[in-house]
Amino acid sequence: MSKQTVALVGGTGHLGSLIADAVLDKPDAQLRLFVRPGSRPKTEGLEKRGARVVEGDIGPNDSRAPASLCEGATTIISAVQGGPDVIIEGQARLLRAARDAGVRRFIPSDFSLDLFKVKPGQIDTSDWRRQFATLADAERGTVEVVHVLNGGFLDRAVLFGFIRVIDVETQTAYVWGDGKQPMDWTTYFDTARYTAEVATDERPVPRAFKIAGDVLNFDSIVRAYKTGSKKKLLRIERLGSLEDLDAHIDELKKAGPANFLTYLPLMYYRSILNGEGKLNELMNDRYPLIRPTTVREYIEREGL
Ligand SMILES: NC(=O)c1ccc[n+]([C@@H]2O[C@H](COP(=O)([O-])OP(=O)(O)OC[C@H]3O[C@@H](n4cnc5c(N)ncnc54)[C@H](OP(=O)(O)O)[C@@H]3O)[C@@H](O)[C@H]2O)c1
Repeated sequence: MSKQTVALVGGTGHLGSLIADAVLDKPDAQLRLFVRPGSRPKTEGLEKRGARVVEGDIGPNDSRAPASLCEGATTIISAVQGGPDVIIEGQARLLRAARDAGVRRFIPSDFSLDLFKVKPGQIDTSDWRRQFATLADAERGTVEVVHVLNGGFLDRAVLFGFIRVIDVETQTAYVWGDGKQPMDWTTYFDTARYTAEVATDERPVPRAFKIAGDVLNFDSIVRAYKTGSKKKLLRIERLGSLEDLDAHIDELKKAGPANFLTYLPLMYYRSILNGEGKLNELMNDRYPLIRPTTVREYIEREGL
């Protein structure tokens, strides 16, 4: 049986490197990486495992490399991070190269809550991804575009970091509103494994592929922390109503784009806490061999 070629852009990044490993673990797939020349040293380990590299950039000055990347590929996965120049314009260049090369499937760099339900202006980075999705619908030709949606990352960097539902250092859990809304969390590792399955699936995949390792409301996350860590000291800070959160974000936005990273996590937490970004109809069962990590298991395993 000939192997499918999966081409990955962003394979030097946090999520992308895990996707690269997950694709290399599949006996029926080979991996082609698209890497900016200056970042090539980061791919040494993946190249040792058999990944091939095409050097290039999805920016405006490199039209040849995306075509070489896509030639003969079955699926393109994008795990890039950046502003609208990368997420809208760069991914559009990549999608057009995929379409022109006859690629079967394209997975854009979404990996988030349900960005299709989030209203315009609520999360800037979701606005860009929806704009790319609209463009992709118009320009994809026969390419199947699949948006992988996993909720928030159930990891130190996000649940316990960027969004900071729990700050492990100060032993404090933070919430706005009543916290009763169920929330979707999936580890980077599990998201990468599901993405590798979607990339190599011979069957048509739904346009939005939705998974979650765990679905918990705020009180259940606190309980999972207490049982998983065996610490009893967790302090709970109720920061105000969801309307107070709106006002806080508006206030932070007044300082302009330089303040972006102070209000972006709050924008995500708002759309998680008010249910706007909730993933309905989870599709974990499509790949039953993956048993994703729960919040409690992650806390135990990481010793948080
Ligand atoms: N759901 C959540 O909680 C959550 C949280 C965080 C991130 N995410 C999403 O996960 C995805 C990946 O994020 P990440 O944190 O893993 O990103 P990351 O670690 O910052 O990696 C970004 C990757 O994009 C590459 N890249 C950027 N611009 C490029 C260009 N012009 N041409 C080629 N490659 C380019 C980088 O290459 P270099 O090595 O050359 O810089 C790097 O490999 C994003 O869609 C992000 O929004 C979701």
